[in-house]
Amino acid sequence: MGLNSRDDAGVFQISPELALIQTVDYFAPVVDDPFDYGQIAVANSLSDIYAMGAKPMVGLNIVGFPTNTLSLDILKEILRGGLLKAREAGVTVLGGHSVKNPEISFGMAVTGIAHPDEIVKNNTARPGDLLILTKPIGTGILTTALKNEKLPAELLPVITEKMKQLNDRAAEVMKRFGATACTDVTGFGLLGHLFEMTDKTDVSAVLDPSKVPLLPGAEEFRQKGSIPGGLKNNAKYIRDKLSIHSPDTEKWLQLLSDPQTSGGLLIAIPPENADACLRELKKNGYPEAAVIGEFTAKKEAEIILK
Ligand code: CO
Ligand code: CO
Repeated sequence: MGLNSRDDAGVFQISPELALIQTVDYFAPVVDDPFDYGQIAVANSLSDIYAMGAKPMVGLNIVGFPTNTLSLDILKEILRGGLLKAREAGVTVLGGHSVKNPEISFGMAVTGIAHPDEIVKNNTARPGDLLILTKPIGTGILTTALKNEKLPAELLPVITEKMKQLNDRAAEVMKRFGATACTDVTGFGLLGHLFEMTDKTDVSAVLDPSKVPLLPGAEEFRQKGSIPGGLKNNAKYIRDKLSIHSPDTEKWLQLLSDPQTSGGLLIAIPPENADACLRELKKNGYPEAAVIGEFTAKKEAEIILK
């Protein structure tokens, strides 16, 4: 698809009927449990394939591990988690590569396939399309609280489950309802990835922040100062691309800039299909899915916060 589009994954057309979709991602642990971490890392790595409406086929593990200071049993658990998640996605893990590294890191290079005509791009939303988000946000703030040993024990399984959840069924549903564009919400936060949907296009996004689903505790721990470094960078980058009408400028700028691990899909959907699509998403394991805004003809800014 070329390197000047900021789409989620690389596309290489093999034949008129077949395109390869490739992506790679890896990161440091976001939770302490190695089995959960392995699952989260692979769910996150697969996400860019789903965002493009493609089917992931094969993966290669990427591992950094401090073999001289940590037990290899931990690595085994990480890989076991990754393999479990890959299996759930119908992905065959062909192998991988590991390096000795002072910090743990894990992820996957993934290859998927799609019919070239069925690839969902991130910058093809049309004026009038509604904007759906499939998972609640706040994992950056909450995993920062976890790192600082401030996260209440009962919230850990809640955020872990969300990060482990695949975007596979959301992708299937959005294609069924004629999504015109899609991206996944990861490191640049909701606003950063929404900007990719509007930048250098004829559309702006009008977002109603009060409709954005938040993880329990996200606003509380934002107020208490669990602010990840990535959030600050994201907010600084996106600030002049926004027109903010809401009086709670700082609150929304921070929450909507929170970097997500294995976040949900941001989907542009024709307005006549939005209700049915939302119902189907909720039925398919995304109970917090919500219409959070709409695309319009280009306005004074790329993104307008109501
Ligand atoms: Co992405
Ligand atoms: Co990515």
